[in-house]
Amino acid sequence: MAKMAASMVETGEDAFRQMFKLYKRRNPPPDFSDVIDFSKCVTNDKIRPVKLDPAAVSDGDAANVGLHHVKDWRAFTLQGYPGFIFITNPFLRGSQPFWVRQCLKTYPQKPNICNLDMHMSPTDTQDIWAKSVSNLSCPSVGKREPRTLLERLRWVTLGYHYNWNSKTYSANHYTPFPTELHLLSHQIATACGFTGFNAEAGILNYYRSDSSLGIHVDESELDHSRPLLSFSFGQSAIFLLGGTHRQDSPTAMYMHSGDVMVMSGLSRLFYHAVPRIVPAHQEVADLDTERCSWQGGAIVEQVSEEDWVVCSRYIHSSRINMTVRQVLGHGQSFPGTPPPPGHAEQHQAEDGKHMKRRRCSDSPNTEETR
Ligand code: OGA
Ligand code: MN
Repeated sequence: MAKMAASMVETGEDAFRQMFKLYKRRNPPPDFSDVIDFSKCVTNDKIRPVKLDPAAVSDGDAANVGLHHVKDWRAFTLQGYPGFIFITNPFLRGSQPFWVRQCLKTYPQKPNICNLDMHMSPTDTQDIWAKSVSNLSCPSVGKREPRTLLERLRWVTLGYHYNWNSKTYSANHYTPFPTELHLLSHQIATACGFTGFNAEAGILNYYRSDSSLGIHVDESELDHSRPLLSFSFGQSAIFLLGGTHRQDSPTAMYMHSGDVMVMSGLSRLFYHAVPRIVPAHQEVADLDTERCSWQGGAIVEQVSEEDWVVCSRYIHSSRINMTVRQVLGHGQSFPGTPPPPGHAEQHQAEDGKHMKRRRCSDSPNTEETR
């Protein structure tokens, strides 16, 4: 601690910032040997198994949203991080492609909001998928074509649309939250002991291989006793989980495709960040074959070959993260009187300016997603 405080005096950087920069560094690359890999299933003093209640979610309800039976999930927590739960890929073989397609084809559609809306008209961002597929499904030869809208997608908001400028959600900026994503989140929250979870807001993040997500705390939701859920698809990433102070040195862990994190209890308000995207191993390539074995269910349909060509190409170089939040506690409502009509549109316009301010300027070659 004294050593860290001394180095902060020297560099002006807190412990979290130093670790963030270390894992973000390209040249020379950092030593990854301390990064926890829950998929390797080692439990020790620091990594503890978590016992979930297998009876909390019926096998049928789990399978309906593409999840294994809860008794087969492997869940862990970290000593010193109360309420943090890491579930290593609980998805049934072949069901991830559906969620990837939702993130790339369905969720960016209106009335949801995305980063491209900040500087483009609604007609231009009307159908990002259709406008992008013709370019994405056939690799360009020779000269680099302009990036497609899908490649320029950085975030999408669902439900209560997060206002990046005021860092708030508001009653008058809401569009229906996707039912299937609510169901998926509800089953996971229930298995982790949180009954009655209501998915009200989603922030989806789209990472290229050189993207990162800056150090932050998710505190805008009004009820912090409700968990925050996070899903990873595609390329892997390094996640840093710190404490309530920037001076608390964070723990680094890998997030692989299909992994789910639940942030609850004290950890719900801990600093965290994604300093680096790391190449996935076989698991992303395996999604291609797994998709064919998926029969399709009432909720999680099989993704068509035509759609999968685009999704597969995308996740072979990118990562998608869905975060799902309950904003209001049971019976709670937003404080204050509803603002006059037109207020919501103004919030949207302001968002554009804020994106730039939140972007990290550590390196001109990389960008933070938000
Ligand atoms: C977030 C977040 C982490 C991730 O959206 O608030 O922390 O894994 N995402 O991308
Ligand atoms: Mn977060």
